[in-house]
Amino acid sequence: MSEVHIYPVYKEIAAKAHINDEQYREMYQHSVVNPEGFWREHGQVVDWIQPYTKVKNTSFDTGHVSIKWFEDGVLNVSANCIDRHLASRGDQVAIIWEGDDPADDATLTYNELHQQVCQFANALKSQGIRKGDVVCLYMPMVAEAAVAMLACTRIGAVHTIVFGGFSPEALAGRITDSDAKVVVTADEGIRGGRAVPLKKNVDAALANEEVTSVEKVIVFKRTGAEVAWDDDRDVWWHETTAVASTHCEPEPMNAEDPMFILYTSGSTGKPKGVLHTTGGYLVYATMTFKYVFDYHDGDIYWCTADVGWITGHSYLVYGPLSNGATTILFEGVPNYPSTSRMSEVVDKHGVNILYTAPTAIRALMAKGDQAIEGTERSTLRILGSVGEPINPEAWEWYHRTIGNSFCPIVDTWWQTETGGILITPLPGATELKPGSATRPFFGVQPALVDNIGNIIDGEAEGNLVMLDSWPGQMRTLWGDHERFEQTYFSTFKGMYFTGDGARRDEDGYYWITGRVDDVLNVSGHRMGTAEIESALVAFDKIAEAAVVGVPHDIKGQAIYAYITLNAGEIPSAELHKEVKEWVRKEIGPIATPDFLHWTDALPKTRSGKIMRRILRKIATGDTGTLGDTSTLADPSVVEKLIAEKQQVL
Ligand code: WT7
Repeated sequence: MSEVHIYPVYKEIAAKAHINDEQYREMYQHSVVNPEGFWREHGQVVDWIQPYTKVKNTSFDTGHVSIKWFEDGVLNVSANCIDRHLASRGDQVAIIWEGDDPADDATLTYNELHQQVCQFANALKSQGIRKGDVVCLYMPMVAEAAVAMLACTRIGAVHTIVFGGFSPEALAGRITDSDAKVVVTADEGIRGGRAVPLKKNVDAALANEEVTSVEKVIVFKRTGAEVAWDDDRDVWWHETTAVASTHCEPEPMNAEDPMFILYTSGSTGKPKGVLHTTGGYLVYATMTFKYVFDYHDGDIYWCTADVGWITGHSYLVYGPLSNGATTILFEGVPNYPSTSRMSEVVDKHGVNILYTAPTAIRALMAKGDQAIEGTERSTLRILGSVGEPINPEAWEWYHRTIGNSFCPIVDTWWQTETGGILITPLPGATELKPGSATRPFFGVQPALVDNIGNIIDGEAEGNLVMLDSWPGQMRTLWGDHERFEQTYFSTFKGMYFTGDGARRDEDGYYWITGRVDDVLNVSGHRMGTAEIESALVAFDKIAEAAVVGVPHDIKGQAIYAYITLNAGEIPSAELHKEVKEWVRKEIGPIATPDFLHWTDALPKTRSGKIMRRILRKIATGDTGTLGDTSTLADPSVVEKLIAEKQQVL
């Protein structure tokens, strides 16, 4: 390990911060010794229509996993994110929309947001949506995406957002699994100067015979492009809201009523519908937002994530708005139209808190000072990182160049499943070590276990698990509680398994080392190798495929695919292109393989199991230590693969 540079807590930050180190230690101790008492108090960060009397009712016991928080409380999410702020800050800006084109921007005050959310909530009702129905959002990054989310929560509809970069096939799968009745989309999206044909993709998804649940499609007009129209099914956003009342009572929701489903990739099978419920999720998003970003009234906050990911749910929309913050919703990408775009947006809106991903940081870092050309970024106070481990070089560059060497960086570790941040520094409390997510948030009990589930104490490296529940935890997989238990609670009995490996150092700081399962992290996007493999073998010329991740300077990981063609098929430049195109079409651009390795045979055990360990090593060129290959059905396959690697593009 190279020497670790320690950054002490900045005095100016600590002076104003909600939590200092002593308070952190005291509160953390209390939160794990007496979770019931701790959360009884902190559940009050949101407003309840009917207060809870019960706080925690959770079990990680295999076969009986059940997670309930504040179970007899009643509340409404949109009332917490909007209505409760109207008296004190109705005219404050809630959402700043920054368009893909730097000349396009707009603002929505809390009053305006209230009006739009009520209208769209009524529009959803008029299209037949009732409490408990599922609404699929397939939206570009426009303020109406947040309006639609909040409108769902206002009437108790369950939203499931599908990232606009996913293909019609991927969209169809999620609609079918969630049984969505309405799809909300736009004519087109715009990102980095390029149009994304969202409505066309929805049409293609709904043309699929297996998709039978959708009754209506509501279309927001973003670009005015010509789109195909089905008079019985399609409705314009502006038309249905124009006739909708601006009054809509928030629906009283039980704390454990479903709030949203979000699909994410696992190591096997189809994407999983992670279910979050109302009370615990909102309490946890609200509280973590306040403390992790040390949010103070008046701060301008910018999270660069898309609403299609969990970060866009918890820390672009729900956490900030529940705290009454001003949140920036950015349509574009950090390096368009120029490398300095991100810094320009910071200056333009006077951003105080910036939350982005290591892959964006590394892409900007590769351009050096161009990333800050002509900008000052002097309003910045706190920087955040999320999505994958941040390498110390990128951390240092982010700190020095974007942050002018005076902003603490909160490296926040969490997952779609965790609902909110679990391991993170607090700006006024935690000494920073570049590359470490540092310490657990209140109420979070991480542990490291060896491969047979023994807890290892002190300085150690192992599998990262959680020993007890926190309010933001997912409750189940939509329609498949058994898979939920199987995936998260069966590897290590009685513990939540994260799928990540981690190291704990002499100060008790956690250093996430990455996934230990067959899940890839490409530019902060999570992808199952199994998903890409099944897309590959669905191509009519491919007999067999195996996908592994290889390190990549900017993306973190790149996708390396081993492919065996059907007898008679011959690899060619054209086929290479066709296969990549195919995966783009099946899943989406983010799943496109970077490398294709044509081969006649994969290394398999005698029972036919592909040995991925070996494939990973060959792909990364780490062939000095292949380990035991004696269990292979045909050990000569390995030599062949190594030789072929020379030709891989
Ligand atoms: C996986 C979860 C949480 C929002 C975005 C991703 C990796 C996430 C960090 C971090 C190291 C991180 C983990 C995790 N990850 N944040 N700060 N340091 N790794 O959510 O798509 O559910 O992916 O992202 O591997 O398991 P997700």
